[in-house]
Amino acid sequence: MNLFDVYSLFDITPVKAQNCYVWDDQGNKYLDLYGGHAVISVGHSHPHYVDRISSQLNNIGFYSNSVQNPMQQELADKLGQLSGMDDYQLFLCNSGAEANENALKLASFHTGRSKIVAFERGFHGRTSGAVAITDNPKIVAPFNESHDIQIVPWQDIDAVEKSLSGNTVAAVIIEGIQGIGGIHIPSNEFLVELHRVCKKYNTLLILDEIQSGYGRSGQFFAFQYSDIRPDIVTMAKGMGNGFPIGGVLISPEIKAAKGMLGTTFGGNYLACAAGLAVLEIIQQEGLLEKVNKSGKYLLSKLSVIPDIKEVRGVGLMVAIEKNENIALIRKELLLKNYIFTGVSGTCTMRLLPPMTLDESHIDYFISSLEASVDSG
Ligand SMILES: Cc1ncc(COP(=O)(O)O)c(C=O)c1O
Repeated sequence: MNLFDVYSLFDITPVKAQNCYVWDDQGNKYLDLYGGHAVISVGHSHPHYVDRISSQLNNIGFYSNSVQNPMQQELADKLGQLSGMDDYQLFLCNSGAEANENALKLASFHTGRSKIVAFERGFHGRTSGAVAITDNPKIVAPFNESHDIQIVPWQDIDAVEKSLSGNTVAAVIIEGIQGIGGIHIPSNEFLVELHRVCKKYNTLLILDEIQSGYGRSGQFFAFQYSDIRPDIVTMAKGMGNGFPIGGVLISPEIKAAKGMLGTTFGGNYLACAAGLAVLEIIQQEGLLEKVNKSGKYLLSKLSVIPDIKEVRGVGLMVAIEKNENIALIRKELLLKNYIFTGVSGTCTMRLLPPMTLDESHIDYFISSLEASVDSG
């Protein structure tokens, strides 16, 4: 049987990984500044993470959501403590798109409305509602087009208010930091205004923190750089450090009803063990402080490299934009210097490394980048 051929692949076969490094089947060692697409938060194969999941598997790996599972509450408590959002409620699922899909559904249940407003350049996943609110017509099938959505220009508060004024919009969704769109950070002023107009028209505000969440920005959630409290926050990626888990944080005003949301796998024992291990490591190793420190170091080093059009980002979520196609530089970094990086469009490199990245990793990347910018 053939695999359904939807991914463009590098000819590299990773077989082992440790902290910020990945080894391929030829024995080459790569510095991972991509984090497996913003997923590796506490470092590859962290011993506490491996231990938590493997010992859990030796006890019980799975049962359904029809019995008590105290690990879900343990995870909710720890998440509430570390994120400062202890008064919110947690719904557990399996991926980013699923978290957004549930958030949209919840907003619709709560308001009795169906329309969703999202932003240009945004990405929210590939399930039915999530892909409909993603600003990329190439991945929206006719089946997904029936949703009632409006995509408005980035940070255009007048356009948002105009679309909300008919009192038909269930929710506005915005990424804490636009990831796939190329690392664009909404300003505090804009988020405060957005929050205000949402309240004015009884529309819920959903923060998609699937890529920007879990400490990557230097705050637990990127929106916490601003003065707002969203109605719903979605998360996935770094939440399980590679174990599939997603979640929806739901404000106390939104009431649950039995059967309103559900999933077979969401919140299973292994996912909870992974999620708890991640939070414990973030806390024990002071990873938010570490991200702040190394993020500042990275940005300061990047700011003096010539021939770069713009560097954007905060913490360890950083874009490097050139005036020309970035593909050759990324290829050289990968094949000559053994560094994984991410991309956005044609001219922007994205860095989404594990939060455990330190200055020596950054120094190696900077000297490699300088050399490839010179030769490019
Ligand atoms: C901001 C954002 N939302 C949602 C998603 C979808 O997550 P998943 O691929 O886990 O469904 C992504 C994935 O890249 C993302 O970056």
